[in-house]
Amino acid sequence: MTADSADRRRADERDYGDPLRGFRSEFHLPVDDDGRPLIYFAGHSLGLQPRAAAGLIGEELDDWGRHGVLGHHTARRPWIRYHEELTAHTAELAGAGAHEVVNMNSLTVNLHLLMVSFYRPTASRFRVLIERGAFPSDRYAVESQVRFHGFDPATALIELGPREGEDLLRAEDIERAIERAGETLALVLFPGVQYLTGQAFDLAPIVAAAHRMGAVAGFDLAHAIGNLELGLHASGADFAVWCSYKYLNSGPGALAGAFVHERHANAFELPRFSGWWGHDKATRFLMGPDFRPIPGAEGWQVSNPPILSAAPLIASLDIFRRAGLSRLREKSIALTGFLADLVDRRLAGRVAIITPRDPAARGNQLSLRIAGGVAVGRRVFAQLEAGGAITDWREPDLIRVGPTPLYNTFDEALRFVELLERATAQAARRP
Ligand SMILES: Cc1ncc(COP(=O)(O)O)c(C=O)c1O
Repeated sequence: MTADSADRRRADERDYGDPLRGFRSEFHLPVDDDGRPLIYFAGHSLGLQPRAAAGLIGEELDDWGRHGVLGHHTARRPWIRYHEELTAHTAELAGAGAHEVVNMNSLTVNLHLLMVSFYRPTASRFRVLIERGAFPSDRYAVESQVRFHGFDPATALIELGPREGEDLLRAEDIERAIERAGETLALVLFPGVQYLTGQAFDLAPIVAAAHRMGAVAGFDLAHAIGNLELGLHASGADFAVWCSYKYLNSGPGALAGAFVHERHANAFELPRFSGWWGHDKATRFLMGPDFRPIPGAEGWQVSNPPILSAAPLIASLDIFRRAGLSRLREKSIALTGFLADLVDRRLAGRVAIITPRDPAARGNQLSLRIAGGVAVGRRVFAQLEAGGAITDWREPDLIRVGPTPLYNTFDEALRFVELLERATAQAARRP
């Protein structure tokens, strides 16, 4: 048996023995213009549409049509408490208590709302530690909050990067940076999984180091929720935010999520940007002038939620509930490991994986750097797309590849690597 046919046999065996393989048929799988299925490895960017989503949106349209405003109480899922239908499963994914999570707004909006409460700079403690390669929206949000409080980002922002010649951050460097900032540090804002490199961070040591210095610890979990088994409550994090359109498969711009640790549940003295949906439910419709926040994360809500964009989340969370996060994580480790092993063996010297090898330090995503420079990398990316593989190119020089355990297969991982072999060979031949 050749090495290639051994890989084929391994892929087939893995798919045959995959206890989650039935979930693939619960998603719409994208096809090309000729109707041929694509290899969709972009779940880290936009997850696929659950087949059940349209029906759930349709039910809301139907209830709206039939009940009008009465639907707030008489819809199949009354809109007045619609977001509560999402809470238990969201809490499970976040590793948090139900009163610690809420689905609302979008990620960056939630980040702002929670920084209003948790970034409370003083003349001596005003600095924010983020990573040098932070997702731009996070950086913009932090910088604007710093300015809003009258500080200069040039002195208030600490941007921690990997060491010279390295792509990944070292845990000890994060802790050292926190210690070095000491009592000037007001907030540490870190990702759960770094969007560019796919590096996953252990939240608890970051939280502990921040708290030792008297600072707050918050997280952007856009690339972590539905990808890793999170223990947000146990980590002690003060707050976290995430979106639902990546691994949570809830559609472009879907309703996002937020976590506030229970020790802040009754921190009504904190400033917050308030709105009526965060007001005590029992008295909300008395329409009084005084704001009385709901204890817990729900108290940070501002507006009544957009039901049509929340509906797909019901479909998605139900899939996660049935699949089970620990089984998904098990398959993720196997599937991404299978892909990494193929890339290492079959593309040695041509493609480098910069994502950590230790499964504990990554999720589904692998970030690939193509040998020969950015121009070759771009050509390879274009060839992959032309060959029917959907990944994404991220500046300056990385192709992000995200096999997703809910709907991707080992066969796709193998076919992707075969395509990558052809693409790198072809890209290298062209001037
Ligand atoms: C890591 C990360 N943070 C923040 C955002 C911005 O999210 P939104 O546009 O939902 O605010 C994204 C979007 O992809 C992201 O990947």
